[in-house]
Amino acid sequence: MGAVLLATKPNNLAMWRDALLAVDPTLEIRLWPDWGQEEEIDAAVIWGAQYLQELRRFPKLGLIVSMGAGVDHLTLPPGPPPGVPVARLKDTMLTQGMAEWVLLNALRFHRQDPEYRALQASRTWEELPPPVTAERRIGILGLGEIGGATARLCAHLGFPVMGWSRGPKTLDGIETYHGPAGLDAMLARTDILVCLLPLTPDTLGVINARTLGLMPRGGWLINGGRGGHQVQEDVLAALDSGQLAGAALDVFVPEPLPADHPFWAHPKVFVTPHAASFTIPSSAAPQVVENIQRLRTGRQLVNLVDFAAGY
Ligand code: GLV
Repeated sequence: MGAVLLATKPNNLAMWRDALLAVDPTLEIRLWPDWGQEEEIDAAVIWGAQYLQELRRFPKLGLIVSMGAGVDHLTLPPGPPPGVPVARLKDTMLTQGMAEWVLLNALRFHRQDPEYRALQASRTWEELPPPVTAERRIGILGLGEIGGATARLCAHLGFPVMGWSRGPKTLDGIETYHGPAGLDAMLARTDILVCLLPLTPDTLGVINARTLGLMPRGGWLINGGRGGHQVQEDVLAALDSGQLAGAALDVFVPEPLPADHPFWAHPKVFVTPHAASFTIPSSAAPQVVENIQRLRTGRQLVNLVDFAAGY
């Protein structure tokens, strides 16, 4: 039987090994860079483009599993070894974490929390106009696993929720848009814009001066996708002009966000360090093991990445 190679930050390796062994104690697991016999490795579970070149050493490699939702890191040169299928995670805890982070920030903006904090700082007892949930329109970019769950959660609270995807999709209770014209139409009606897209050549820079300019003035941006989705100077300009009233950003170019970047100290920006959500190995392990078992028994792999689509 083959061996599974784990490659990620050294301090996460043992947690992943234990999580996989808890599902299947018979797995033979090797931790990067101690892979042993190269021809024994038939599956690699990895996070990071820095391992891609070395994966070409393993002649029997039949599956790569990415330890996260987004696979843009694996599209960087040199990419996965040709012909080796790549699977990504669709994990309920990862999805839940992201939906919570979006909700935290949507409610923060909706309930005027930044404004009330400013009033508190000046010891000012003043009521702001009451927020009306049914009138606060949330537009979500990306209606995959995470975007769909987030859309349902926001709709459940009573927000009017719209969602945009590359191709047409239907979701109960969500007004859906697709394609370039659909994007513009949704933005024109979006008070709180949420980005949960995969990063692909098509979605790179989708949040820019033009698209932010289509939103009604004084809206908010919540980006839990990738830093590459936002043209950062355009986001800053929109905040400074008042086109955007606030932004909650979890992702940046580059990461870590440099200490002198204006986002850090901007009064309208809420920064988290790519920590909106996490892959919890114990939650993700069953689907990773399932795919390894499928590989070894010649069955159809699941959650495969379509590199032509980019996710
Ligand atoms: C994290 O950023 C992920 O894509 O899972």
